[in-house]
Amino acid sequence: MAIREIKKYSDPVLRQKTSRVDVIDQSVQVLIDDMIETMHAAPGVGLAANQVGVSLQLAVIDLGEREDGEPRHPLVVLINPEIVSTQGSVTADEGCLSIPDFSEKVKRAARVKVRAKDRTGKPFELEAEGLMAKALQHEIDHLNGLLFIDRLSPLKKNIFQRKLKKALAETA
Ligand code: NI
Repeated sequence: MAIREIKKYSDPVLRQKTSRVDVIDQSVQVLIDDMIETMHAAPGVGLAANQVGVSLQLAVIDLGEREDGEPRHPLVVLINPEIVSTQGSVTADEGCLSIPDFSEKVKRAARVKVRAKDRTGKPFELEAEGLMAKALQHEIDHLNGLLFIDRLSPLKKNIFQRKLKKALAETA
């Protein structure tokens, strides 16, 4: 396993719609293991393949442990995931490993049902709410070339652009 470089905004690979995974071969298995290691090392709760520069419909989510040490949810590997249905709406803070040092409230569906394949190629469905629903929508957005900043109001997008300019000016 290896930690891969996480691509940062505004790398164009983050804006491309990813391609379906047709064959889950050894290179895909290695990629999955590397993505899990990269996500844990960052640390983050989710990672999409295009965030490590591979334009495939593949994402991993690990919400970690609760305060009592119990896992919030088993680690999920999603191959060719799609949102089948959504319910309600909720606004919660979001951040992204590809957009460091910026978080903002994003409105998303409160509950989602997702269909995907696991790393053995077996199809499964996952119904989720809370943190898992948010992570699923965030990662599936990545696979469609979308970032959470795209879902902000024009005013908040403006604040983001100004913060970004300031950060770039400071590193120049
Ligand atoms: Ni992200």
